[in-house]
Amino acid sequence: MLDVAVLVSGGGTNLEAILTAIEQGEITNAKVKIVISNNKRAFGLQRAQNHGIEAMAISPKDCCSREEFYNKLTQILVDKQVGLVVLAGFLVQIPEQMIKAFPNKIINIHPSLVPSFCGKGYYGLGVHEKALARGVKVTGATVHFVDNGTDTGPILYQKAVEVKVGDTPEQLQQRVMEQAEWKLLPKAINEIANDRVRIVNGQVRIKEAK
Ligand code: GRF
Repeated sequence: MLDVAVLVSGGGTNLEAILTAIEQGEITNAKVKIVISNNKRAFGLQRAQNHGIEAMAISPKDCCSREEFYNKLTQILVDKQVGLVVLAGFLVQIPEQMIKAFPNKIINIHPSLVPSFCGKGYYGLGVHEKALARGVKVTGATVHFVDNGTDTGPILYQKAVEVKVGDTPEQLQQRVMEQAEWKLLPKAINEIANDRVRIVNGQVRIKEAK
């Protein structure tokens, strides 16, 4: 059984998709052990509690220096002995020490087709604003492993989503979440939990399910 930590900063709809997928048996061999947020008001924490899952807020604002915050966060994950850390809308740069402590065990969902509209400064609604400003006709979402760069790790899954004429950033964000994010992230966790994911020469290989 894979013990998973989910890190959130906001609404937690991706977290909800994960919890629902586990409850409905679409994700097997995994359970969410803890949900952590850097924002104590994040609705994602409430969602965790609604599902009977431990929820914890830890923020550099309330606790300490950024260095100590990183140490604490990493230590909590180590103490909980989680096998996978899922960044589901977690708006904190992941420190090197955490990547070292969890090599190829951290995944992130990004709301664009990487390498478009990603990297430093591309997060939240801004990603969709920039995609609309560029006039792309297709965007989407990407699940990738986390390395020391920003959105540069090996790609697990991507799904394209159509941009419609007159879309607002909010409408596009919603479509990308519904059609891509809420499907890809549970699928990625299920494949990892069932030991079908390997990284070979920096690229992800996924074994066919039997
Ligand atoms: C999602 O679009 C995610 O890709 C991005 O932030 C948003 C978080 O949504 N990084 P939620 O908190 O899961 O509802």
